[in-house]
Amino acid sequence: MKVGIIMGSVRTKRVCPEIAAYVKRTIENDQSLCSENVELQTIDLRQVALPLYEDDDDSIPAQVKNVDRYVDSRTRSWSRVVSALDIFIFITPQYNWGYPAALKNAIDRVYHEWHGKSAMVISYGGHGGDKCNRQLQEVLQGLKMNVVGGVTMNIPVGVIPLPEETVTGFSAHNEEILQLVASCVESTKSRQ
Ligand SMILES: Cc1cc2nc3c(=O)[nH]c(=O)nc-3n(C[C@H](O)[C@H](O)[C@H](O)COP(=O)(O)O)c2cc1C
Repeated sequence: MKVGIIMGSVRTKRVCPEIAAYVKRTIENDQSLCSENVELQTIDLRQVALPLYEDDDDSIPAQVKNVDRYVDSRTRSWSRVVSALDIFIFITPQYNWGYPAALKNAIDRVYHEWHGKSAMVISYGGHGGDKCNRQLQEVLQGLKMNVVGGVTMNIPVGVIPLPEETVTGFSAHNEEILQLVASCVESTKSRQ
């Protein structure tokens, strides 16, 4: 079962990779998930570098059923990445009560590729980013994803890298993270 950990921040200096790495480690260290043959892949939207409508692709992704119909090669590559994954763990910072524009762009570039797949949202911010967490879950539901829930993680704002005690304190979220991943795995199995 292929699980994509999507990093929603594309800033040059950011805490997103630290949080994504923490989540990946937490899943890798869980015995019962290991036995489920879960294969984790971290995806950095900064490297995916999708166009922000500067290409001349006038297609509506919801009307695109064949990857070759996407005009831009970066969108075609992204479509293949999303298609190959079964489960999505979105890791997102909260920016002004919302989630980053780069993440919305990545979501909007494709459509059918998301359908029916399981997703969960891990947000972070000064107060855990609960507003962007709920917004993102709603958008994913609109894409007919099976959204199992979200986790919010408090961080000290503007501190990069994160203080060691902050990362240590993330362990308070381990159980909820693992429960949501397990729900994603279960619903994916029942779909296959
Ligand atoms: C444009 C911008 C807006 C932000 N708005 C919020 C906010 O609404 N709530 C919050 O808790 N933190 C907010 N922050 C703080 C971020 O949560 C914090 O800087 C975090 O490190 C950003 O994640 P990143 O470093 O992975 O990009 C904001 C940061 C930026 C850059």
